[in-house]
Amino acid sequence: MRKPIIAGNWKMNKNPAEAKALVAELKPLVKDANCDVVVCVPATDFESVRTEIAGTNIHLGAQNVHFKESGAYTGELSADMLCSSGVEYVIIGHSERRQYFGETDATVNQRVLAAVKAGLKVILCVGEKKEEREAGYTDALVEYQTLIALTGLTDEQVSEVVIAYEPVWAIGTGLTATDEQANETIGVIRKGIERKYGKDVAEKVRIQYGGSMKPGNVKGLMAQPEIDGGLIGGASLKAADFSAIVNFDK
Ligand code: 13P
Repeated sequence: MRKPIIAGNWKMNKNPAEAKALVAELKPLVKDANCDVVVCVPATDFESVRTEIAGTNIHLGAQNVHFKESGAYTGELSADMLCSSGVEYVIIGHSERRQYFGETDATVNQRVLAAVKAGLKVILCVGEKKEEREAGYTDALVEYQTLIALTGLTDEQVSEVVIAYEPVWAIGTGLTATDEQANETIGVIRKGIERKYGKDVAEKVRIQYGGSMKPGNVKGLMAQPEIDGGLIGGASLKAADFSAIVNFDK
């Protein structure tokens, strides 16, 4: 059995004081969660969130990492900088990074390798655009994105990566993939991993759904056999909504 993992992606929201207030409100609401609970916050919030969640079941995540250890990369953060700031998880390859910041499958792969080497837990995002789904490329695309991103990892390292399947057309739009669509595409990703790394690895990898996941649709999505959790954008910014998602099984 794979333990579910629910992660909030705060994106570019919340200053340190607001971040502290949000996790302070969240703590008692998620303390009995049966899943792993992660908040992926802006780097400027690492310190206030880390201090506030110390000793709780909430884990700290970042939203990106650079692939070099150090050097002339203005504005970027290395894996070591994240680790030494108390960060445990990192989102890599989010569609907003791909769309607005020139992220490619190749740089996503480099970032994954750097993160794993440093001991960070990776949340790898893949997903198709609306026109790609309509053209019938979804399955080929998500398998390709996934396998390229994982290239160079050992079987054991692959089994510890968390994958977030986020159809781009469902992010921030209020449109959710149907439970069946999400389950089917996540099944395709798992089959791709099985073909390359074997059944054991494929059965260990946790694959989340992301894209307008909310208290109202979490139960249906989480009831699907392939879906192991969620990566939550908008609804992770409200303690009541995020905790309701985390407590989907209660
Ligand atoms: P929304 O939940 O706001 O659709 O965002 C999903 C997402 O991009 C999480 O990474």
